[in-house]
Amino acid sequence: MKVNNTHYRTIWLNPDDKKSIQIIDQRKLPFSFEIETISSVEEMCIAIKDMHLRGAGLIGAAGAYGMYLASIEAQNKSNFTGALKKSALLLKATRPTAVNLTWAVDLMLDQIGEERTIQNALQYAEAIANQDAEACRMIGENGISLIREISKKKKGETVNILTHCNAGWLAFVDYGSATAPIYAAFDEGIDVHVWVDETRPRNQGARLTAWELDQHGVKHTVIPDNTGGHLMQNGMVDLVIVGSDRTTKTGDVANKIGTYLKALAAKDNGIPFYVALPSSTIDWNMEDGLKEIPIEERNPQEISRIEGLYNNKLLEVIITPEQNVGSNYGFDITPARLVTGLISERGICEANLESILNLYPEHDK
Ligand code: MRU
Repeated sequence: MKVNNTHYRTIWLNPDDKKSIQIIDQRKLPFSFEIETISSVEEMCIAIKDMHLRGAGLIGAAGAYGMYLASIEAQNKSNFTGALKKSALLLKATRPTAVNLTWAVDLMLDQIGEERTIQNALQYAEAIANQDAEACRMIGENGISLIREISKKKKGETVNILTHCNAGWLAFVDYGSATAPIYAAFDEGIDVHVWVDETRPRNQGARLTAWELDQHGVKHTVIPDNTGGHLMQNGMVDLVIVGSDRTTKTGDVANKIGTYLKALAAKDNGIPFYVALPSSTIDWNMEDGLKEIPIEERNPQEISRIEGLYNNKLLEVIITPEQNVGSNYGFDITPARLVTGLISERGICEANLESILNLYPEHDK
């Protein structure tokens, strides 16, 4: 996608030093656009854990490039495979909920195997990144029909879409999941407007989604997380599209904390609630989201503090009586029964095992 008219992905091989990776440092957005260079597995682990980069698809690609760095570091080790496995464990431990990370790291481990060829590891990592971008592009092609239909019904009046957190191109390698149909509709000339949940505590909506929609010229309004229900009751939301960090093969959806409440409000108001996701986000081993999906708990200081710009400097201020109050669950589970449908790279399906397997028959075992 474009930043000040230049095309960027969120992660790429450093053109000046092929042994390092570059990313957009998302901690600085929307206030400044900075590129960070990552030269070791340790640095990649910090970047994922401390959210220099974040979002299911991007974490997966970062894990893949992390394994490329691991293959460089393992070159001189007597036990090449042992060293690779150690790095894989470190990378996978950084964030537990988004399954794309485990998927990509395990795939890299399998593909690299005993090979000591750095070039091959790089090709595998780039293939995973390209696959993520292409899947998101296809999600856009498949999801646009939903927006077209609503626009037609409303005789060209603005289609109002609500989204939560950042499931935009910043959360993937390119295009995004929830935003991909929105960008596709906008590019086709459909009048769209996006309600952007601010997404406390890290404000991915207010800081990231708003910034990227702005870069693309899409109309949007940032709202406090609790506003969606009111908007839905008053006919101000036509469609909800969110992303996912892990979805069971039965259609239970883990996504940023607060998603479940939006799904309940959508159900109560008869508003379609769609989840956009590449198939790398489907956990083919899980059936019961509530019981099985690990929910990340983060530092409570993310709740008791808030960061913003003051006099051109990023500052953090305390907003609660005590510094360490707060429980910080990163994600919640929206049960399949509240999900109208899933938009994936192969098409739109219902959130149930049969319908998902119709699109992905190779997982029917
Ligand atoms: O904690 P984050 O920012 O990595 O959260 C993940 C997300 O970006 C959202 O939950 C998103 O909606 C999922 S789609 C990548």
